[in-house]
Amino acid sequence: MKSTLAPAQPRTSASLFAPIAADLDEVERILRQTLNNARPGVDRLLAHLAHYKGKRLRPALLLLTALACGKVTSAHHLLAAVVEMIHTATLVHDDVLDSASVRRHVSTVNSLWGNQTSILLGDYLFTHAFHLSSTLDDVRACRIIGEATNRLCAGELQQICGRGNIDLSEDEYFAIIDAKTAELTACSSKLGAMYAGMSDEVIDRMTNFGRSLGLAFQIADDVLDLIGEETLAGKSLGTDLEQQKLTLPIIHLLQSTSPEQARRGRSILTAAGNHKREALLPELHAAGSLEYARQRAEGLVSSALADLECLPPSPGRSILEALADRVVHRDH
Ligand code: IPE
Ligand code: IPE
Ligand code: MG
Ligand code: MG
Repeated sequence: MKSTLAPAQPRTSASLFAPIAADLDEVERILRQTLNNARPGVDRLLAHLAHYKGKRLRPALLLLTALACGKVTSAHHLLAAVVEMIHTATLVHDDVLDSASVRRHVSTVNSLWGNQTSILLGDYLFTHAFHLSSTLDDVRACRIIGEATNRLCAGELQQICGRGNIDLSEDEYFAIIDAKTAELTACSSKLGAMYAGMSDEVIDRMTNFGRSLGLAFQIADDVLDLIGEETLAGKSLGTDLEQQKLTLPIIHLLQSTSPEQARRGRSILTAAGNHKREALLPELHAAGSLEYARQRAEGLVSSALADLECLPPSPGRSILEALADRVVHRDH
């Protein structure tokens, strides 16, 4: 089996996304145009966000789904900007929840301006996203985006409420990541297919594709939180452990078949101090917990690929296949 989080892939995101490069430029233009406010204070925050550019995975997913379904329209451009704004809002809030200091290779909003500003800036982004989606004549997108964002917030709430619960089950973990991460990727591919005029059956399959992709993506991200490098990831790592938010490899270790191993895992996790990552790593290796999480992520990628078969072979579909592979084989 290929090892997850292997060194950078031969194709960069720029080359992978080449067929939608002009569409992504248009999304950037919409983002710049929408997030433009000269009010003192707000201008400074928005200037910071202008340097705050991530992988643009969700807009790319929406646009590539549209391409694979045969047609990228101006509605897709607008919706791609909307999902990225929602995603950025959740990250601004998430960094408060996780007390993170670095995001997208720069200081977090909370570390520069504090939690109160972060909360309001996140709200500012959410409300812009909802307003922008309401400018489409068709209300379907608004409903889908509103529902997905609501589930996303419920997932973050479920996670914060479960903080410190070292008996969190695998089912509970999957319910959390399904809501906080997979809901928005499912929404992205759903909108891509829907606004390309596909049948309900294809829309459902592409929604499942985005959901499986999002679940695999979050599992890979949770592995990175344990073994990744901050300079490559460009964000604070180890925050899940510091906050006692259990993720799949840790849950596997704590439910390990060796009671001694599980006991050691528990005592490291609940001990005071900041060296949990280093201390847990040998335990995670010994219990096969990282490998277990990688296999679960690979399984989800396989099911995502099976859903893609509802579309005829095309360059767009091939890029979606490569993207599915990329989400679990990455270092950032
Ligand atoms: C980070 O998402 C949050 C998770 C769902 C794990 P990304 O890794 O897509 O973040 P950016 O947009 O590239 O910063
Ligand atoms: C990201 O969650 C936020 C959402 C999915 C809403 P995490 O806390 O797991 O991700 P990172 O590691 O900070 O990006
Ligand atoms: Mg978090
Ligand atoms: Mg976080």
